[in-house]
Amino acid sequence: MNNQLSRRFIAALSSIAVTGFLVTACGAGGSGGGGPSATHSHATPTTPALNGFPAPVIPASNPLSDEKIALGRQLFYDQRLSGNGTQSCASCHHQDKAFTDGKPLAIGSTGEIHPRNSQGLANVVYNATLTWANPALTELERQMEVPMFGDNPVEMGIKDSNKAEVLNRFKTDFAVVNLFKAAFPKDSDPISFTNIIAAIASFQRTLISNESKYDQFLRKQVTFSESEIRGMNLFMGETAECFHCHGSFNFNDQPKFVGLSPVETPFHNTGLYNIDGKGGFPFPNRGLFEFTSKPQDMGAFRAPSLRNVAVTGPYMHDGSIASLKEVLDFYAAGGRHITSGQHAGDGRLNPYKSDLITRINLSEQDKIDLVNFLGTLTDENFLKNPKFARPQ
Ligand code: HEC
Ligand code: HEC
Repeated sequence: MNNQLSRRFIAALSSIAVTGFLVTACGAGGSGGGGPSATHSHATPTTPALNGFPAPVIPASNPLSDEKIALGRQLFYDQRLSGNGTQSCASCHHQDKAFTDGKPLAIGSTGEIHPRNSQGLANVVYNATLTWANPALTELERQMEVPMFGDNPVEMGIKDSNKAEVLNRFKTDFAVVNLFKAAFPKDSDPISFTNIIAAIASFQRTLISNESKYDQFLRKQVTFSESEIRGMNLFMGETAECFHCHGSFNFNDQPKFVGLSPVETPFHNTGLYNIDGKGGFPFPNRGLFEFTSKPQDMGAFRAPSLRNVAVTGPYMHDGSIASLKEVLDFYAAGGRHITSGQHAGDGRLNPYKSDLITRINLSEQDKIDLVNFLGTLTDENFLKNPKFARPQ
């Protein structure tokens, strides 16, 4: 996609966000139409149908192939890929929950509690930065080293002393050896961590969710209820302002795709905490501040994609909000006031909070409407797609 096209694409996105969905009647509408499709032709046979989504960026160093995707799927679900053989990627990323795990905080293979909430993997190929707040992690291949080899906290617990053992578990399984050989036919010794990572990254790049009720509504295949329409108009309008940070085709504000330049990677403080009255968030969850040590980056996190959000609770980087209704209560109040306990403090007064997070006048019905609209982002096909499921 050339620059002019990409500018047009962004214009299309923002017109979708600002006007396209402001329809008042029940039923299909919206000048956004089927959404942008300028790059549709980039799809390869190995990628799922893009249905109007832009072409994802696939690194030249790791092109997609059906064989790598098949191996990656096997390994994603394979508990042998952990030091003690008890955990796979899928232990914390369940397909039926859009690849989250339903827990407030993740738990690693040795029982260590992760300070963060497991993230969904729907459309992860389009994320410009990875994890809740790490501007430096921009490739799936690099991100994966964290759960596999990280020791703070231990997730899959692979370390120098057990690396050979982990690889040997695969070398003695004939079926898996064949998957490695097929995926990396030129390698004399294909069973390596480099290839494991390349294969799982390829599998993750196919996890595309674009068949939700909302997508079908854009294509005029279904109608929305009155409540869903009202919720959509609130979401896309200037009262609730959700679209400022969740307004891309992927319902976030860090999309990355072929031809988009520059790729923007904003992080935001939404006023979840204010433990010292000076804007403090609890360690080690201080967001971008953990990397930059700049006061203004305190509590700044990535706005997550809201696709499938109805099934990805509990919410926020630390799983500290249980339901979507409570997320709406939080936004309506313009932040969170915690009145007792170690995290007490009035997040509404956090000096580093984004200007876009302020008290919103939302009635109880408005909140219900917004929750109902968010429910239209659930993609049952994605949650049940046999191509993404545990291999038999
Ligand atoms: C112990 C649970 C656990 C395991 C096992 C695990 N993850 Fe995760 N995953 C998480 C958590 C927690 C986060 C958020 C991390 C953060 O923000 O620091 C995450 C984040 C991610 C992200 C970033 C998503 C985004 O939107 O940026 C990807 C990709 C990912 N995991 C893939 C994997 C893969 C692949 C594996 C297996 C090699 C794996 N995970 C194993 C818990 C886990
Ligand atoms: C200033 C940017 C911004 C605005 C405006 C905004 N959000 Fe968010 N949203 C975020 C960030 C950042 C997070 C993650 C915060 C964290 O974990 O600390 C988030 C998290 C969420 C989550 C939790 C998702 C998950 O997977 O845990 C939901 C749901 C959500 N927002 C919905 C909304 C709705 C609805 C609105 C409008 C009322 C809205 N947001 C407005 C930035 C924003």
